[in-house]
Amino acid sequence: MFILGFSISKRYPFVHLGNWHIDGRNTIRMKWKFGNRHNKIVVRGHNNIIESIGKVYESTFRVIGDNNKINILHNCKILDSSFVIIGNQCNITFQEKSTCGHGCWFVVMGNGHHISIGQDTMISDDVDIWASDSHAIFKDGNEADVINLSGDIDIGAHVWIGKKSVVLKNVRINENAIVGIASVVTKDVPANCIVVGNPAHVVNVGINWERSHIKV
Ligand SMILES: CC(C)(COP(=O)(O)OP(=O)(O)OC[C@H]1O[C@@H](n2cnc3c(N)ncnc32)[C@H](O)[C@@H]1OP(=O)(O)O)[C@@H](O)C(=O)NCCC(=O)NCCS
Repeated sequence: MFILGFSISKRYPFVHLGNWHIDGRNTIRMKWKFGNRHNKIVVRGHNNIIESIGKVYESTFRVIGDNNKINILHNCKILDSSFVIIGNQCNITFQEKSTCGHGCWFVVMGNGHHISIGQDTMISDDVDIWASDSHAIFKDGNEADVINLSGDIDIGAHVWIGKKSVVLKNVRINENAIVGIASVVTKDVPANCIVVGNPAHVVNVGINWERSHIKV
């Protein structure tokens, strides 16, 4: 089951191995050599893929449904965070060099929805990124008339999301933007600007930022 630094469970329909609980025909590929240690993986359904060639430490992956994919690309680093998909044909993607601190949540539910994190994006600690409200709201007793459909979240390249921030469904944050600490983002954020507050609003434009620690 462990081949060249990857663990592959595709041919094993039921795997209950330590922190891995995989029920169904699914594919898990975790590059072992550089990280991906002590992760908890729970998958129920078929044709789901969880793949990480980045470094993911002490995180939880929970996928319930079919044809979903979580993909963490090269040079990403993720610390004890949670990835949840409940639905079908949903995706969570971390592009190259993106990082995520402790205690973050990435949640996608429904059909065909996604959270996409762009290259070199920096997500601080305790950030919540929710592409779904988790529970349906409907009006006038009509359960077919759901008013809070799930929606995609697209975070562009080189975005900095401050600690304890929240990003809600149907939001695009464009490249080089900054989300201030403890902000709640409910609408699209233009490129190269700072947004703060609840709901987050623009307080500065024409900015950029760098990942290395501040010296002034
Ligand atoms: C977003 C941030 C980087 C902006 O810094 P800055 O450019 O120096 O901004 P300022 O301090 O000049 O603030 C600009 C305005 O936004 C307000 N503001 C700043 N951050 C805010 C926040 N998180 N929530 C609400 N308002 C905020 C300020 O009160 C100020 O309002 P005013 O113009 O009415 O006086 C900074 O406020 C911040 O949130 N830093 C923390 C980032 C973080 O999470 N770091 C953890 C490690 S990754």
